[in-house]
Amino acid sequence: VVSPVASKAPSIEAIRARFPSLQSGFIYLENAGGSQVPREVADAMREYMLNNYVQLGAGYEISQRSTAVVAEAHLFINELMNGKQGQTILGPSSTQLFYMLAECYSRALHPGDQIIIAETGHEANVGPWAKLSDRGFDVRVWRVDPQTRQCSIQGLQGLLCERTKIVAFPHVSNLLGEIVDVKQVTEIAHRAGARVVVDGVAYAPHRAIDVDDWDVDWYAYSTYKVFGPHMGALYGKQEAFEELTGPNHFFIPKDNPYKFQLGGASHEGCAGLLALKEYFAFLTGSEAYEGYNTVKGAFEVIELCELPVQKALIDYLRSKPEITIIGPEHGDSSRVCTVSFTHSKKTPIEIVAEVDRLKIGIRYGHMYAYRLCRTLGIDTQHGVVRVSAAHYNTVEEIKILCDVLESVL
Ligand SMILES: Cc1ncc(COP(=O)(O)O)c(C=O)c1O
Repeated sequence: VVSPVASKAPSIEAIRARFPSLQSGFIYLENAGGSQVPREVADAMREYMLNNYVQLGAGYEISQRSTAVVAEAHLFINELMNGKQGQTILGPSSTQLFYMLAECYSRALHPGDQIIIAETGHEANVGPWAKLSDRGFDVRVWRVDPQTRQCSIQGLQGLLCERTKIVAFPHVSNLLGEIVDVKQVTEIAHRAGARVVVDGVAYAPHRAIDVDDWDVDWYAYSTYKVFGPHMGALYGKQEAFEELTGPNHFFIPKDNPYKFQLGGASHEGCAGLLALKEYFAFLTGSEAYEGYNTVKGAFEVIELCELPVQKALIDYLRSKPEITIIGPEHGDSSRVCTVSFTHSKKTPIEIVAEVDRLKIGIRYGHMYAYRLCRTLGIDTQHGVVRVSAAHYNTVEEIKILCDVLESVL
């Protein structure tokens, strides 16, 4: 059954035509590192800087417009996450936002309180919490099972206690690619009285976020990996949001995201983010942006574009006995198209060096999932080879990459 949204979706050629950088012929397969932007995003930033580049909050007309752009971008990103029960903070990066959040909690919690960190996490949502052990917090690692490469629910249940205040975990590991059941983990953490801090960075480019349905307390993603400018976004559920004192000036009201935003968000970045409304509407085959419905529809189309690309890549990797996929070995929708592997004879450095010369962008390394690599017995200097696709990649591009891998390996 073809969904109504998919039946109106633009062709892959039309989608690619929206991205000027894709016209160069370079094959971008390092999208988990950062995505490309559609023309409207770059145009909106340029337009804002050339015509609207004044400070917020003054009475004159141009300033009123700037104020509105920044306020609307906050509302839009909150809507993009379906943040009905809270609001969204914008900042320079997800790493900065997680550090800021951990710093705020270190002042709100008490020494001896427990914090649980998932070993599958990117260091951005692990390190800030791990460092709090220096200040008397009881930081526990939710261990990954090296066989399943998952942090199990039983493992979490074995750690939770009445002192647990925070459970920090990734929605998708940026190395493994598997989608974690956020709703289930959140429900279990909430039953123990803890708040959850979810790293949604590796999930956000691939599926619609629904913080309302999952009932999460905090959820962050990096907008530059979701076809936007280089910024980070952090949703906070209202009660979690209000219980913290932000690092910004004391006179900023408790319910204002600005309390968490030292220096404020990038103004031109906010203009670029707003232009994504147009792109998402285009993906659904419509002219008009209609709130979260458009976001959901756009991500339905994104998933449909990605699945054949993901399958082609995984089918090739699975056909090679010398290759080990580090993560799920199936190409269905329970994972995203961020696929890591190692080879029994060639190192990731050797493999990527050869691919680099051929106008194809992939990468090697520990991907900042340093602790995960260590536990899985992966050399952290070499790490893995990672290929990560976005909805604008094609099966043909994967075939070109596989031909190259075939000769390199
Ligand atoms: C899963 C994950 N979390 C967090 C980050 C950090 O994001 P940022 O660059 O916005 O700090 C990354 C960046 O690669 C990531 O992949």
